[in-house]
Amino acid sequence: MMNTMHSSNQDDIKYGLAGVMVDTTSVSKVMQEINSLTYRGYPVQELAQQCSFEQVAYLLWYGELPDASQLQAFGLQQRHQRDISRTLIGHLQKFPDGAHPMDSLRTAVSLLALEDADTDDNHSAASQTKALKLFARLPTIVATLFRQRHGLERIAPDPQLSYADNFFYMCFGEVPEPAVVRCFEQSMILYAEHSFNASTFTGRVVMSTESDIYSAVTAAIGALKGPLHGGANEAVMHNMLEIGCVDQVDDWLAGKLADNEKIMGFGHRVYRHGDSRVPSMKAAFLTMAKLKNDQTWAPIYSRLEQQMLQQKHIYPNLDFPAGPAYYLMGFDIDFFTPLFVMARVTGWTAHFIEQQHNNRLIRPLSAYNGKAERHLS
Ligand code: ACO
Repeated sequence: MMNTMHSSNQDDIKYGLAGVMVDTTSVSKVMQEINSLTYRGYPVQELAQQCSFEQVAYLLWYGELPDASQLQAFGLQQRHQRDISRTLIGHLQKFPDGAHPMDSLRTAVSLLALEDADTDDNHSAASQTKALKLFARLPTIVATLFRQRHGLERIAPDPQLSYADNFFYMCFGEVPEPAVVRCFEQSMILYAEHSFNASTFTGRVVMSTESDIYSAVTAAIGALKGPLHGGANEAVMHNMLEIGCVDQVDDWLAGKLADNEKIMGFGHRVYRHGDSRVPSMKAAFLTMAKLKNDQTWAPIYSRLEQQMLQQKHIYPNLDFPAGPAYYLMGFDIDFFTPLFVMARVTGWTAHFIEQQHNNRLIRPLSAYNGKAERHLS
């Protein structure tokens, strides 16, 4: 095919929008040169160490950490929003058995929009209420799908329990020891927000047309599902199971690299010298391995990390420790990315509200490289 694209146009193209700054945000700051990430000014490691996920959700939406009375009021507000309608439960029960939970979750968010009389109300207060509802209800949807998968009766949410305790309770019928819950909560905090990543940007594009938050979250779930983004945490665990034991790492890696395959859980568009979130999540993963007395995955993790650095100079990203950590917590592998959704919905919605406040339609250009102009006769 004749290439009709002007070379000047081609020079202007930023493939994958790499290095392109499209807007400002006050939600988070990624400082790749020092491997650092802050949410509303606070380093993510400190938040993961010292805060609950509910505190971090509040911070992302309202810009400040809540004091004791604000946290109590926030708890009352969102914990009573957790339950989902009988109609939605009925729809979930009709989803095909083999459906990927990300597809089910994406469809469930669309259904939530149908039940909300305020779906198209884009005033600040209505958007905030919708963000809160999504934060409160996504865990209930994921847990309902999880129990359905295992042929178990649904467990209704308990508003007395914290976000993380309640989620374990709804999935497994009991709350595990606090150290396990803490590792989970840390993963939620670390996954909560990351500036203009692919799924957040997808949702911001939707918001920029003055569409609604449910549509933006539905689109963002679609973007997160891919293995180059959130789907990598599932792929990491499939790889670890395929490798099986530490002695197999070198041969497995050599085969993948010889076939020019990407190693899931490694590399990042923005961080080139290490992902700021990995040390905290790696510590949580190692804690899980100790708590479960399962030393299968940690040696595979270390060897793969070492070999990728030595051979490719590529560092692990957050999905690398998160995958085996979720496996050790007892979640099915195809539920790992839905867990990521439960966390990232906080950052997504903070961005969507920010987009509404300072909106300009997002509409980039493309350089045409098709047929030259021609006519029908
Ligand atoms: N395994 C092997 N090689 C890699 C990897 C990897 N995981 N990541 C990058 N490379 C190589 C590329 O092959 C390329 O090599 P080349 O220059 O010889 O062609 C070079 O490093 C640059 O990589 P790009 O693909 O250009 O980097 P890009 O910024 O476009 O992609 C991405 C970033 C998509 C994350 C990539 O590193 C990747 O596919 N990683 C695996 C998937 C993954 O883990 N995704 C999770 C991202 S983090 C998150 O969503 C929480």
